Amino acid sequence: MLFGKKVFRYEVIDSTNLEAARLGKEGAPHGSLIVAERQTAGRGRRGRIWESDEEGNLYFSILLKPDFPVQKASMLTLVMAQAVLQVCEEVSGSRLGIKWPNDIVAAGRKVVGILTELHLMPEGGYQVVVGVGINVAKQEFALEIAEKAISLEAVAGKKIAKNDLLEKVLFRFEELYGQFCAQGNLSGMLAEYNDRLVNKNQMVKVLEPLGEYKGMALGINEEGELLVAPCKEDGEPDMEKVQNIYAGEVSVRGVYGYV
Ligand code: BTN
Repeated sequence: MLFGKKVFRYEVIDSTNLEAARLGKEGAPHGSLIVAERQTAGRGRRGRIWESDEEGNLYFSILLKPDFPVQKASMLTLVMAQAVLQVCEEVSGSRLGIKWPNDIVAAGRKVVGILTELHLMPEGGYQVVVGVGINVAKQEFALEIAEKAISLEAVAGKKIAKNDLLEKVLFRFEELYGQFCAQGNLSGMLAEYNDRLVNKNQMVKVLEPLGEYKGMALGINEEGELLVAPCKEDGEPDMEKVQNIYAGEVSVRGVYGYV
């Protein structure tokens, strides 16, 4: 196993994603694991903060220096989502869902968040940091997210050993990463991902930089794009105008709430 062979552990750090990027630029190897008990500046998607002041949760990042073209790097976020989903299902004994592209949810609430950040290197090439926050033990969430978040222990109804969880995720991610590199796309995990996709056959609101529209989410394709059939005037999905939604450009919301 290569991933996690080199480990950087911290009691407190600003953000494991930031630290991974710094270490990567200083020459830390592909597959390095950066893990912290707490973060003082945990980062979420779209500039949000990821609450990281409580111990007992998992905050970690994996540094990757892939050989494949940079255009494919955003798919890694879905590869990690799949790995985390499988392991969280295994340890909790519960079926979980994925909110595209990479939130792991249980009963409509978020258990895991993933933030993938790309860094072009001055000397050429690039590195990617895949950061994962798992609500393992946290039971009390800040007011703004209390309705939207849940811990894995609450889902499982039992204590979860977080180091064991981390080890399993690394192992599974490395396997799925190998498969992804060999196939060059997400075809190997497509069926299971779509099976767990909570947005599938649901109405979603697509928030594009230039406006928003409603449509029916149909599932993802091999490139990790969400296929959305926009609503016609009568509200029915227009199957002739299906759009490929790329995660980097747009955000998708459930029409009836977080999911
Ligand atoms: C999201 O907004 O859903 C993504 C949250 C990602 C949080 C994790 S915690 C470990 C890693 N370090 C960070 O600063 N963020 C990610």
